[in-house]
Amino acid sequence: MVANATKSEYLMELEENYGAHNYHPIPVVLERGEGVFVWDVEGKKYYDFLAAYSAVNQGHCHPRIIKALTTQAQKLTLTSRAFYNSVLGEYEKFITEYFGYDKVLPMNTGVEGGETALKLARRWAYDVKGVPENKAKIVFANGNFWGRTLAAISSSNDPSSYKGFGPYMPGYELVDYNNLTALENALKDPNTAAFMVEPIQGEAGVVVPDNGYLKGVRELCNKYNVLFIADEVQTGLCRTGKLLACDHEQIKPDILILGKALSGGTMPVAAILANNEIMLTIKPGEHGSTYGGNPLACAVAMEALKVLKEEKLAENSETLGVLFRAEMTKLMNECSVITAVRGKGLFNAIVIKEKNGKTAWDVCLEFAKNGLLAKPTHGDIIRFAPPLTINKEQLLACVEIIRKVILAH
Ligand SMILES: Cc1ncc(COP(=O)(O)O)c(C=O)c1O
Repeated sequence: MVANATKSEYLMELEENYGAHNYHPIPVVLERGEGVFVWDVEGKKYYDFLAAYSAVNQGHCHPRIIKALTTQAQKLTLTSRAFYNSVLGEYEKFITEYFGYDKVLPMNTGVEGGETALKLARRWAYDVKGVPENKAKIVFANGNFWGRTLAAISSSNDPSSYKGFGPYMPGYELVDYNNLTALENALKDPNTAAFMVEPIQGEAGVVVPDNGYLKGVRELCNKYNVLFIADEVQTGLCRTGKLLACDHEQIKPDILILGKALSGGTMPVAAILANNEIMLTIKPGEHGSTYGGNPLACAVAMEALKVLKEEKLAENSETLGVLFRAEMTKLMNECSVITAVRGKGLFNAIVIKEKNGKTAWDVCLEFAKNGLLAKPTHGDIIRFAPPLTINKEQLLACVEIIRKVILAH
């Protein structure tokens, strides 16, 4: 350790020296979180305006979720699915009733959720739709992001995701997001098994499609007997002001993928929900995961879902989202740095125009100095996604920080 280095500097150097360089974090080292706040190792307090990419919708270390976690951790954590466990069945009943599907398939990370949904869609295509073997096609939208596995990057049109990692997964086709004509052309192919789409594209920079797009997707999928897979890993669980982003257009996907906030940010928990005709095409031994459906995850997920409803986090997200976008639009009209404001609920983004060589990254460094944590995506977009437990007073305090930094930019 360099003499006079701070604790943060020391810890960042450790990561630099011993960890793979696959991330470029904002230089703050966090050690504690509570609700909407996090503290760094020097004791500086910040508003968390990323919420671990919407995994911490219920706020950091929510006492009820931590209680469920610690209580179950002292009893039984993992059995594998070689045996039954005393929590899985109860959780399966709970989550299927909560979202209105016949069955759930529990996994761990979001990307495994996507993989599972695609396997399920291919199997359904062969067993139910009658697609000839090995001919099933999955359609995705340009700008999609669903993780970093080979199957996931194979569907990406972002070179920083896929370049240098080929060969890629076959059987994929990309169409423009928010374009129903392009989608219809792709779905006409009788070998199409599914269209997998984010109701709002998160990593692409909180790209909100036109009203009616999701309804249109639903209708086209019905027309061509194609499964509608909604990747709600980031948009789901109250982030956009409704329980699911699909609820804004009152449509129900055939396969729903959830992750992130399903555990309130405590551990990786993902789930795929579908009705029997689809889910029961996968038979014993054909899919699974050692940790999927572990009793610890099941106990945590039930509590995380109860907190969302009982604390009315969708309603809070909706109300404060309207206020936040109004404040950001006001700010955009006062300066030349912000060129766009968009989002739904507390899932928002601003687009930053580079000024005097200063980019969205520099703006985020200034936010951090002023006690607010956010991170750019695609160079010029800053996503704002605080924990949904944030109150009006806290949100307005954050608006003040954003105003101060942007007006000085
Ligand atoms: C929409 C979406 N799907 C899937 C994933 C992958 O989730 P995980 O990182 O838990 O694998 C992400 C991650 O950011 C995501 O935003």
